[in-house]
Amino acid sequence: MVYGGYRYLDLDYTPSEDDFVVLAWVKGKVKLETLAEALAAESSVGTWTEVKTMNEHVFKNYRARIFKLIKVSENAGFVFIAYPIEHFDIKNLAQFWASVLGNVFGLKELEELYYLDIKIPKKFQKQFDGPLFGLEGVRKYVGTDKTGRPHTGTIVKPKVGLTPKEWADVAYKAWANGLDLVKDDENLVDQDFCKWKERFDYAFDALDKAEAETGEKKLYLTNITDISIERMVERLDYIKERGHKQVMLDVYILGFPALDYILKITKKYKLIVHAHRAGYAAWHRGNFGINFGILTKFYRLLGVDQLHIGTGVGKMEGGTLLIRRFHELAEKQGGVEKLYLGSLDFEFAEHIKPLMPVASGGLDPGRVEALVVVHGLNVTIQAGGGVHGHPRGTEAGARALRTAVEIVARGESIKEYIDKYPELKEAIEKWGYLDPAKYKRILEFEKENKDVLDRMATEGGIGVIKEVIWKI
Ligand code: 3PG
Repeated sequence: MVYGGYRYLDLDYTPSEDDFVVLAWVKGKVKLETLAEALAAESSVGTWTEVKTMNEHVFKNYRARIFKLIKVSENAGFVFIAYPIEHFDIKNLAQFWASVLGNVFGLKELEELYYLDIKIPKKFQKQFDGPLFGLEGVRKYVGTDKTGRPHTGTIVKPKVGLTPKEWADVAYKAWANGLDLVKDDENLVDQDFCKWKERFDYAFDALDKAEAETGEKKLYLTNITDISIERMVERLDYIKERGHKQVMLDVYILGFPALDYILKITKKYKLIVHAHRAGYAAWHRGNFGINFGILTKFYRLLGVDQLHIGTGVGKMEGGTLLIRRFHELAEKQGGVEKLYLGSLDFEFAEHIKPLMPVASGGLDPGRVEALVVVHGLNVTIQAGGGVHGHPRGTEAGARALRTAVEIVARGESIKEYIDKYPELKEAIEKWGYLDPAKYKRILEFEKENKDVLDRMATEGGIGVIKEVIWKI
């Protein structure tokens, strides 16, 4: 089988440690081998027809090689492709993206194309600094490096509409009643009803007051995301001028080049960067897409300090195993093992620090215990509705969340304490208690049955991965 006159199938090839490796699911109108050839050709040196300008040097040194195929049907399956590092502009992530994850999505033979995972060689990882603070640095700042408890936080709600003073009053109540972090929502920046600078000034004073009263360091994550780089930089300058230490970015919306530019400044100004992933699902959920684990790797390499990764137990998509995978990619030092077909073994370069995973979306105190089974203690637990929707408001909601986290961090069950803490009781009466047993069973099953999951994926293809494995 050839595509455009050249053969990219090379099943005897073993990728070198400097190769990029991608794992993709593909389905289309022609045979799997032809689809794979089309992918490899279009993403490396080829096109739809033979060209007189091709020479041996180009084909030998820069082409992609399909080194493994797992057929699920005649015209669908898993494709493993290796790319030589020489193919890429090593300082330029955008060029890598245009090659590997670019034109191929438009090929008309394809009915489905989903990139499950990518292995990024350490030589390429050298161009990135990774997080400046990362998990350890954020913990040190907040003062939880000794206790190791999860961080607690809230997103001021309503998402938009409050005035700067109203916003800061809500934030103060949350900080003063035990939460470590308060943040803007992804869609609040500088609207007329709540100008950014005014909100920042009010919130900065509220933060000072709450820190003085509680004796705890708090995080205030102000959203500076903007179409204008100049405006973002002006906001960063102001944050620095006021002596503030954190900032929030909508990282997917910004795109890699703008993010890279802004991160260079946040690192110079020594700011902790909180990354909201709003929009990620447009790539991650469809038949044509890119798994969020791939983005997690790149956001960590680029160097955000905290990243939204989903919850496994809340309102956003993603079951236990999928979110656990994102968590490991964010939080593990060094190597992250492949779980089952659908992921690859991966190793971060030594200088790339782990980051603080953020679980957010549809959480409340009754879900904390189950959430910690999925994520462990290295996680920031954020609840918007689950704090401000408490029957007695933000203060009681914040206390209920912090109490739940303290109990679970001690290895105890919140069920034993419901009667002791009225706020916790009211929260659970309103939203319920999520039994962690199911989540423990899923993780135990995965540990002991990797081969079963592998077989299910091999036989059932992406449908089984997405609809079964990633949903349990
Ligand atoms: C977020 O930024 O993750 C959401 O605004 C979370 O809000 P929720 O806790 O009310 O779902």
